[in-house]
Amino acid sequence: MQEATKHATAPMGEPAEAGGRVRSRESARTVPAHARGFWYCFGGLTFFTAIMQALSGIVLAFYYQPTPERAYASIFYISHYVKYGWFIRSVHVWGSRLMVVFIIIHMLRVYVTASYKHPREMNWVAGVFLFIITMAFGLTGSLLPWDQQAYWGTAGAIALIEKTPVVGDWVAHFIVGGDTIGPSALSRFYSGHIMMLPATLAILLGVHFWMVRKQGISGPL
Ligand code: HEM
Repeated sequence: MQEATKHATAPMGEPAEAGGRVRSRESARTVPAHARGFWYCFGGLTFFTAIMQALSGIVLAFYYQPTPERAYASIFYISHYVKYGWFIRSVHVWGSRLMVVFIIIHMLRVYVTASYKHPREMNWVAGVFLFIITMAFGLTGSLLPWDQQAYWGTAGAIALIEKTPVVGDWVAHFIVGGDTIGPSALSRFYSGHIMMLPATLAILLGVHFWMVRKQGISGPL
C-alpha cells in the first residue's frame, strides 16, 4: 500500500522509485502533465486504429477470396450473408479513413510542437515511413473489392506513381505485376496488404515506440 502511494506521488515525468523486483525503472516512468493534453492523444489513437484494422482485417480474411472471379462475390457475401459481416467490413473501411485522419493530426502535433528536432529527428524519419506505409495500406486495400470504384481508383493512383521521375514506370510495373491492372495486381496488392505491409508496420512501430521511450516525450512549448 505504502509502495503504491509512493508511485502515485512521484514527480511528473520523473521515474518513480523502483517498487519491487518486477517493476523496472523504465516501466515506472510517468507521463508529463503537458503530454496528457488533447493533441497528444493522436499517436495513441493512430495505434488504436491500427490494432482495430488488424483485428477486423483478420476476420475479413476468413471470407475474402483474392481472385478476379471471386473477389467481388466474396465481398458481397461478407456484406450480405456473414453474420455481422457488414459491421466488421464497416469497421475496417471507416477505420482506414480514421487512421489517416489521426496520423495527419499526430504529424501536425509533432510539427507544431517542434518535436521533430534533435534528438528526435530519426523518430520523425521513422514516422515518415509509417505514414508511407499507412498510405500504401489504403492503396492496396482499395483494389480488393474488385468493383468499378476499386479499378478506376487504383488506375488513377498508378498513373500518378508512373509520373514519378526516373523510377515511376518501374515501380508502377512492379506493384501492378504487368502493364494492366489484372489478376497479378490483385495477388500483389493482397499479399502486400495482409503480409508485407503489416510486418513492416509492426517492426517500424517497435522502433518508433522504442525511441519515444528512450528519448522521452519532448518538453512543453
Ligand atoms: C502508425 C503511425 C504512428 C503511430 C501509431 C505513432 C504513435 C506515436 C505515439 C503513441 C507517440 C507518443 C506521443 C504521442 O502520442 O503524441 C509518438 C511520438 C512521436 N511520433 Fe509518432 N506515430 C505514428 C506516425 C508518426 C508520423 C507519421 C510521424 C512524423 C512524420 C511521427 C513522429 C513522431 C515523433 C517525432 C514523436 C516524438 C514526439 C515527442 O517526443 O513529442 N509519428 N508516435
